[in-house]
Amino acid sequence: MTDADLGQPLPLPTPSPEFQARLATRRSAPAQALAAPGPSRDEIGRILTLGARSPDHGALFPWRFVVMGPQSRAALADALLPHADRQPDPGKARKVLAKLTAAPVSILVVSAPAPSAKPVWEQQLSAGAVCMNLEHAANALGYSSSWITDWYSYDSQTLELLGVTEDERVAGFVHIGTLAEPPLERQRPDLSQKVVYRS
Ligand SMILES: Cc1cc2nc3c(=O)[nH]c(=O)nc-3n(C[C@H](O)[C@H](O)[C@H](O)COP(=O)(O)O)c2cc1C
Repeated sequence: MTDADLGQPLPLPTPSPEFQARLATRRSAPAQALAAPGPSRDEIGRILTLGARSPDHGALFPWRFVVMGPQSRAALADALLPHADRQPDPGKARKVLAKLTAAPVSILVVSAPAPSAKPVWEQQLSAGAVCMNLEHAANALGYSSSWITDWYSYDSQTLELLGVTEDERVAGFVHIGTLAEPPLERQRPDLSQKVVYRS
C-alpha cells in the first residue's frame, strides 16, 4: 500500500468456503519437523506484509521483526547452551533448542509498546495478532508454521542475546517451512463451555 491508497475503499468480505476450510483445518507444525523448502526472500517479504496488516489500536505498529536464517539461529542456539544449564530442567532446556534451529526461516516477533500511548496490554495483544497473521500468511503461501516462545524468551540474560530490550517482550518465534508428514488433529475446545449467547 502507498500513501495514495489511504482512504481508498477496500473490498467487503464475501463468503469463501475455501477460506473457511483453510481456517477449519489450520494446524501448527511441530517446529522441529519443519524442513526445506522454506519461503524465498520475496515470499518472506510478502508474509511480513500480510502479517503486519493486523489490528492495532492507534496505528502504533507496536512490534518489530527479526528475520533469522539458519546461520544466525545456529549461532544463537550455541550462545544459549550455557544458559540452558541454568534452567530448572537443563536437559529439557537443551532439547527444545532443536525447535529453534530446524526450520528454514524464523521470524522473531518482538512486542515493542510505545510509551504512554494506548494501554500496553492492547499493544501486546496486537503483537500476538501479528504472530497469528504471519502464520496465516505463511500457510496461504503453502508453508507450515509454528509459533514458539520457550524458556529463552523469558530469561533476562537470553533476551539480551536476542537483542530484546527491557521495554520489549518476545511475542514469539514464527518458524516457517515444509512438513514431510501431515500434522495430526489435536483436541479442540468444547464451545458450549466457552460461549454464552445474549440477546
Ligand atoms: C504465545 C504462544 C507461545 C507458544 N510457545 C510454545 C512453545 O514454546 N512450545 C510449544 O511447543 N508450543 C508453543 N505454543 C503452541 C503452538 O504454537 C501451537 O499453538 C500448539 O502446538 C497447538 O497447535 P495448534 O495451533 O494447531 O492448535 C505457543 C503458542 C502461543 C500462542
